[in-house]
Amino acid sequence: MDQLIGLFPTPFLSCTGLLDAAEAAELAAWLRMQSDQVPNSRSDRLTHSAPLRLDGHPLLAMLAERLAPRLVALGEQMFGAALDWSIKELWGNRMAPGGSQGVHRHANSFISGVVYVTTSDASARTVFLRGLGGNDFAFSHAGPGVEVTAFNADRWVAPAGDAGDAVLFPSYLLHEVPANAGGERLTLAFNAIPAQLASWDYAIRFSTGRSS
Ligand SMILES: [Fe+2]
Repeated sequence: MDQLIGLFPTPFLSCTGLLDAAEAAELAAWLRMQSDQVPNSRSDRLTHSAPLRLDGHPLLAMLAERLAPRLVALGEQMFGAALDWSIKELWGNRMAPGGSQGVHRHANSFISGVVYVTTSDASARTVFLRGLGGNDFAFSHAGPGVEVTAFNADRWVAPAGDAGDAVLFPSYLLHEVPANAGGERLTLAFNAIPAQLASWDYAIRFSTGRSS
């Protein structure tokens, strides 16, 4: 018997309906009122809110409650144990038609996520990328008749994207948002850390506090 085994897969959690339609609409209205927008460095049609406090709106606190068991579940796949997770940053993203977000990953974090507050146009679903690394020669086989498989793909489009859906992923994963051909796209993004990681009895602890 032959068996094709996918070695070392990446855990990725897609959550549909994390917020219901009314909750998503209320959150969208509140996000639009946040005036302290930070321009994106690449796209003038994308702005980010200042960091949001989890106690800044009842729906944010509720969102954190709903995300908590999911952080534990995804973290259990990543680290093999149910760890004590905290959301250490949360911010809003407001993308106008034609906006985009460049390739990036989230530093100083272990699990990151996106909550779709409005339904994302299919053109602007978050795209995840295989690591770009290396400056050495590379070989590829591409073109008509070449099938994209889980093993040769260099990009993957997230399935979620309706208002209230969310995706959670390891923070090291490169991702981007292609040019938004639809309407206004509102999302929340967050970073989460465990209280500590330990190798046997050698632990490193993480804090959500600010450095200054
Ligand atoms: Fe991101």
